[in-house]
Amino acid sequence: MKIKKAIIPIAGKGTRFLPATKEIAKEIIPIINVPMIHYVVQEAVEAGIEQIIFVTSSGKFSVEDYFDRNQELEAFLERNNKTKDLELVRQIGMMVNVTAVRQKEQLGLGHAVLMAKNMVEGEPFAVLLGDDIVVNPVPAIKQLMNVSLANECANVIGVMEVPKEDTAKYGIVKGDMIDDRTLRMNGMVEKPKPEEAPTNLATPGRYILTPDIFEILEKIPRGAGNEYQLTDAINILCQRKNVLAYKFFGERFDTGNIHGYLDATIDFALKDPLFREKFIQSLQYRIKKYGINL
Ligand code: UTP
Repeated sequence: MKIKKAIIPIAGKGTRFLPATKEIAKEIIPIINVPMIHYVVQEAVEAGIEQIIFVTSSGKFSVEDYFDRNQELEAFLERNNKTKDLELVRQIGMMVNVTAVRQKEQLGLGHAVLMAKNMVEGEPFAVLLGDDIVVNPVPAIKQLMNVSLANECANVIGVMEVPKEDTAKYGIVKGDMIDDRTLRMNGMVEKPKPEEAPTNLATPGRYILTPDIFEILEKIPRGAGNEYQLTDAINILCQRKNVLAYKFFGERFDTGNIHGYLDATIDFALKDPLFREKFIQSLQYRIKKYGINL
């Protein structure tokens, strides 16, 4: 079955980006001049997703507006013969069909996903976190879709290798490798100490799930942080259904934290011919200015 819908939860408070997130949605904060959410939606669209379901909270209107047409701006650009800008703005407004559902209380990622249950209408769906960017010619979520399709519409959790000493920062999957990139899961452990981690495969925010997850999300108790955790639901799902983990190809930037955000900004500036040369000059100057020995 073709996966047509993607849930993108963006209802979180984004406290790591305060004070900016006091007034603006974290997902609208740009990597150079493109909001981080643009990259996530683009990944879904390039994978063939036809409908994006944002799970939102108050103050997140700008994300929906960003993917809508802006007639006033378009008319202004047209009047001023700014053809390239006009084309860009129009394309974003027509990129994909967007709907939104509210999460009235921020009770965790599992709870956020559950809010979209009625919009998914019994079909397998994708989940992408709005503050995780993955760069790869074949979109990460497309790779997971392909694995799902090849395995009778299995649930597929995107994973990446992390250094063993970092396992305590992530949800870590457990199970048996069935080929060099795929693991048949029998559970997940939330933030295990390195010595207790079953693998070094972490779940950075890309999932293909079947609607079976909703029934579980409706019943699970609150978990870590007193929140309804998607991890806890996936753990139960592993006991009932075929759940695979797939080591997707691509570089992942955790733009929900300041270091990951800076890393993405530097990487994107260095790879863009528009900014590259001047940016390198700036870096060289600043490194000298602050007496940094590389
Ligand atoms: P984070 O753990 O990054 O939380 O959530 P956050 O609130 O965005 O940021 P910090 O930790 O306060 O800085 C991971 C993803 O899950 C969404 C967030 O919007 C983010 O995309 N989320 C989290 C929800 O939609 N609802 C929730 O209740 C919790």
